[in-house]
Amino acid sequence: MFKRKVLTVTGAASGIGRSTAVRLAKLGAHGLALSDVNEKGILETAKLCEEHGSSVTTRVVNVSKVDDVNSWIGKVYKHFGRLDGAANVAGVAGGDGTTTIATIDDRDWNRTLNINLNGVMYCMRAQLPIITKPGGSIVNVSSTSGLRGLPHSAAYATSKFGVIGLTESAAGEFGREGVRVNAILPGPVDTAIFRDGEAKGLFDSKVMGGTTLLGRMGHPDEVAKVLCFMLSDEASFVTGAHWTVDGGYSSC
Ligand SMILES: NC(=O)c1ccc[n+]([C@@H]2O[C@H](COP(=O)([O-])OP(=O)(O)OC[C@H]3O[C@@H](n4cnc5c(N)ncnc54)[C@H](O)[C@@H]3O)[C@@H](O)[C@H]2O)c1
Repeated sequence: MFKRKVLTVTGAASGIGRSTAVRLAKLGAHGLALSDVNEKGILETAKLCEEHGSSVTTRVVNVSKVDDVNSWIGKVYKHFGRLDGAANVAGVAGGDGTTTIATIDDRDWNRTLNINLNGVMYCMRAQLPIITKPGGSIVNVSSTSGLRGLPHSAAYATSKFGVIGLTESAAGEFGREGVRVNAILPGPVDTAIFRDGEAKGLFDSKVMGGTTLLGRMGHPDEVAKVLCFMLSDEASFVTGAHWTVDGGYSSC
């Protein structure tokens, strides 16, 4: 499905990003450029991808730092000579789940917005000028919290609403050049971000899992499957879309 294609994945050290990278490799990706702030994690992911025959580069990139992002994407293009797709996955939960709009901490607000929203913008700004035209494809990871507010996590919800706005705008700007840009919106998925939040008492996996129509949490591979489909040419008439992958969490 991805033969001869070169793709980037941010947040590739764990969870949905790792599952996406490994699935892209399984589906035949020629080149994978993986980044994250967690070096050990990306090296582990790279090993898993190489087992499927992909050529892999890794780099420590903080997506909230524009110079990191520009330099990484520039090096990827120099190394592989092309860029066909991008999964912009990296994100943080932010906050401690107790703040209200009246008590938002500027540092936490800025950090969350810088990583979750500016990070996606920096990535797309670097990727879109060089991505294959026609045929390039980008998938940004938002959240079901990008559809409705999340009390006590306003920074997170705001950042994820913003990712949908960025996605739709980019889809409109680059559609006529044959580039597709979509967003996926996971619901409760069993990854580090979720488990860290649970440890802080922000949410409970039994309660959240029980609230989905399927009565369970999702697995990162289940999100990666949809993400990779949207990245692939199989989704050739899908752009500007935001798809929930949430076991029906946002439906009822
Ligand atoms: N797990 C869920 O329930 C859930 C639900 C909705 C949306 N999401 C979104 O899915 C995406 C992936 O999260 P996940 O669930 O796989 O969690 P995760 O914690 O396993 O993965 C997030 C990755 O992002 C990396 N990261 C954090 N800050 C970074 C930065 N500044 N620069 C680069 N990398 C950074 C982390 O090191 C980690 O590897 C996030 O954008 C998250 O908001 C997750």
